[in-house]
Amino acid sequence: MAPFTIRWGIISTGGISTKFVHDLLVDPSSREVSDVAHKVVAVGSRSVESAQKFVDKFKATPDDESPSWGIKNGVFDRVKARGTYQEVYDDPDVDAIYVGTPHTLHYENTKDALTAGKNVLCEKPFTLDSAELDELIALAKEKNLFLMEAVWTRYHPLAYAVEEVLKSGKLGKPKRFTADFSMDFPMDDKPTSHRMLDPVLGGGALLDMGPYPSVWAMLLVHRNPYNKDTDPKVLTSYQTVYERTNVDLNSRWLVDWKGLCQGQLLTDLGSAGLREATAVLQCEEGDLIIEYPPYCSEAFQIHPRPERDLGTIKEKSRHVHPIAKGNNGMSYEADEVARCIRDKKLESDRMPWTESKIVQGWFDVVRTSGPTATATMKGHASK
Ligand SMILES: NC(=O)c1ccc[n+]([C@@H]2O[C@H](COP(=O)([O-])OP(=O)(O)OC[C@H]3O[C@@H](n4cnc5c(N)ncnc54)[C@H](OP(=O)(O)O)[C@@H]3O)[C@@H](O)[C@H]2O)c1
Repeated sequence: MAPFTIRWGIISTGGISTKFVHDLLVDPSSREVSDVAHKVVAVGSRSVESAQKFVDKFKATPDDESPSWGIKNGVFDRVKARGTYQEVYDDPDVDAIYVGTPHTLHYENTKDALTAGKNVLCEKPFTLDSAELDELIALAKEKNLFLMEAVWTRYHPLAYAVEEVLKSGKLGKPKRFTADFSMDFPMDDKPTSHRMLDPVLGGGALLDMGPYPSVWAMLLVHRNPYNKDTDPKVLTSYQTVYERTNVDLNSRWLVDWKGLCQGQLLTDLGSAGLREATAVLQCEEGDLIIEYPPYCSEAFQIHPRPERDLGTIKEKSRHVHPIAKGNNGMSYEADEVARCIRDKKLESDRMPWTESKIVQGWFDVVRTSGPTATATMKGHASK
């Protein structure tokens, strides 16, 4: 049977849009996918020159690079370069929009796309706050359209493998959890207009990197078969301010899953975290360790409890689940979007709206309790 093909419109021509389009151009069989396929039909930018440059660059992909498969096999054949985003939303040839703009534009871009009748995959963080997210979800429901936050990590081979370990029950009940995504980001060397520094573009650690400790909190604790708490709350949080621009240099928050365990989450632009363990779930029978990087980990370890005689797991083991060769790792979420649209779903079971809402709610608490409250960014976002 012919694969179900989804026709994408791409919003913006920055770093992440480039990676996403790269993956749409890779041969799906490289990741053993044959039921869905992708076409890129329109690219929207703030200037038509930039859109055209983006298109031309992909068209010139050297033969030995993986996206050349898509160039030779019609994925990019009739792609249109547009000088406004609205032209892409209004294009009748487009089934789904990928939003790859800075955080502060996600709400506006997603709303415009849904209003024009398009399904949407929007980069993380979904929005600036829960009120914006609630509005987008209501609009998707009203319009009967698919909507998903682009949390690609949830669709990686490693995420499925870890889920199987948790379902097997061999780790036992969770006792505690920690997760960290931090880096030595050269803040002082960057202009204040850089999107990681500029509050107008949603700068700071929390909104950009906070989604990743949160991914593992959701995958390892929230979706753990032992968890019954559907609304885990932030107990306490702290943000350190980067004084040049008043965004958060780091954010830490403690989450409680009632009746199960607590999780300590951390993101920091000032100091890199441990490479050996980006997330750790300690359980009654043994510990699960996710190796760095948290956004695209390819290996996890299972360890005996630190007090070895206490748990049933006695030996260390390491399990490798790589991203398929030639893919950046974004192809898997694109396949999920195609399948959901084919199956007429409005949301993905692996990245449901309720779970985006929980994480967005944590960010609201961290920011409103700390110095980087939402109000500082609102009203500043514009194309
Ligand atoms: N999933 C992941 O692993 C991942 C990784 C990196 C980033 N992200 C997310 O993707 C989003 C974009 O990040 P990025 O690193 O791709 O950023 P980027 O390289 O700066 O690209 C953002 C693009 O947005 C467009 N844009 C529209 N209004 C803008 C404005 N006022 N200022 C700057 N750019 C504007 C520009 O494209 P045009 O000029 O063509 O319109 C720009 O190239 C962020 O929300 C980030 O959290 C996700």
